[in-house]
Amino acid sequence: MNTLIKNANIITMESEQKVIKNGYVGITDDRIVYVGEELPEDFWPQRILDCRGGAVLPGLINAHTHSPMVLLRSYADDLPLQEWLFNRIFPVEDKLTSEDIYWASMLGTMEMIRSGITCFADMYYFMDEVAKVVSKVGIRANLSRGLQCFDDNIDPLQDRRLLENEQLFKDWEGESNGRIRVFLGPHSVYTCTPSYLEYIVDLAQRLGTGIHIHVSETLKENEECLEKYGKTPVRHLYDHGIFNCPSIAAHCVHVSEEDMSLLKEKNVSVVYNPGSNLKLGSGIAPVTSMMERGINVALGTDGASSNNNLNMFEEIHLAALLSKGVKQQPTNIKAYEALEMATVNGAKALGWDKDIGMIKPGMKADIIIVNLNKPHFYPMHNIISNMVYSAQAGDVETLLVDGKIIMDKGEFKTIDEEEVYYNIKKIGKELAYR
Ligand code: NI
Repeated sequence: MNTLIKNANIITMESEQKVIKNGYVGITDDRIVYVGEELPEDFWPQRILDCRGGAVLPGLINAHTHSPMVLLRSYADDLPLQEWLFNRIFPVEDKLTSEDIYWASMLGTMEMIRSGITCFADMYYFMDEVAKVVSKVGIRANLSRGLQCFDDNIDPLQDRRLLENEQLFKDWEGESNGRIRVFLGPHSVYTCTPSYLEYIVDLAQRLGTGIHIHVSETLKENEECLEKYGKTPVRHLYDHGIFNCPSIAAHCVHVSEEDMSLLKEKNVSVVYNPGSNLKLGSGIAPVTSMMERGINVALGTDGASSNNNLNMFEEIHLAALLSKGVKQQPTNIKAYEALEMATVNGAKALGWDKDIGMIKPGMKADIIIVNLNKPHFYPMHNIISNMVYSAQAGDVETLLVDGKIIMDKGEFKTIDEEEVYYNIKKIGKELAYR
């Protein structure tokens, strides 16, 4: 199957300069085979997508979320993280069924697609249901089962959560044409005992996979860790071998100079979640310092109950603005750097940089088309600045993953939208009485 995208303003993300005006993208099956200003020679498309002057970008990568948490959107707000999590979120999560998770993840995926997300890193439970959604919808995802253990006397070999994460790996790693990968998901230092962490490292190394974890999200997390173990969370995780595995560390809001050195030494990718960190009053991660040190910083929405949406354009906007304001330095985090966080850096964080994050021959055809015929895009002095400072999630019209159209001019091709809303409303009502 050959697809030709035409009349496109292509933001390739290969470099800031490589923006192709009025160009073409040729796709054969799931891969990009041509990108350029001229019509590709000897390329006979069966399908033509006319962008009518729209912007074409690599699909956005949401490197940290909990997709089913859309079900708890606006359920508990304006609370500190620990109170929010332990007193409000954890008790209601105990009542959720696998079917709830299926529909919730489907809704979360719909919302992500609407804002141009073609790939996400998810950590939650009943992850088998999320994998089914990813497979059915045709999106790309890195999945991990959230792992917690508060009791050091529990035998990790008998731990239900760990067994589920291992089974998830066995069932889904590399499935759906390689669109699904499975990492292990130790939740954080404050929800995992040291020996549990070490067992997770051992299992990750045996499976040959990576780790997705929350790190130094709040000052409270740091203070408790220092009190209990005499170390910062980064140092603690480093000492227990977590970072010997390919790792994505969500948040890293409160990291010291030494922490940053350790993250750099182990090539840990940090995921910046500005919306969630602001809403939970956690603080603002020192991303410019981390980037100066060469740490790979990706971008995430976190879950919809601490955000309260899964809108990558909002995160890109916040990422570009926050550091400027906080440091009173308008040159901090340039527009292109914010866009890199949501594309190439996300791909690198998830170990997928050979396949996604750029529009380039050889890459997977994970592509979004943004409608530029909107008041907030006129005039077009700088398309990259417009994408970062002016674009809205609703501007994304068409989205492809693996060369397949998932959303076509705003219409979902693999999701029955009404069926999802019906089920979510039903679950929402029931939840109050469980
Ligand atoms: Ni999170």
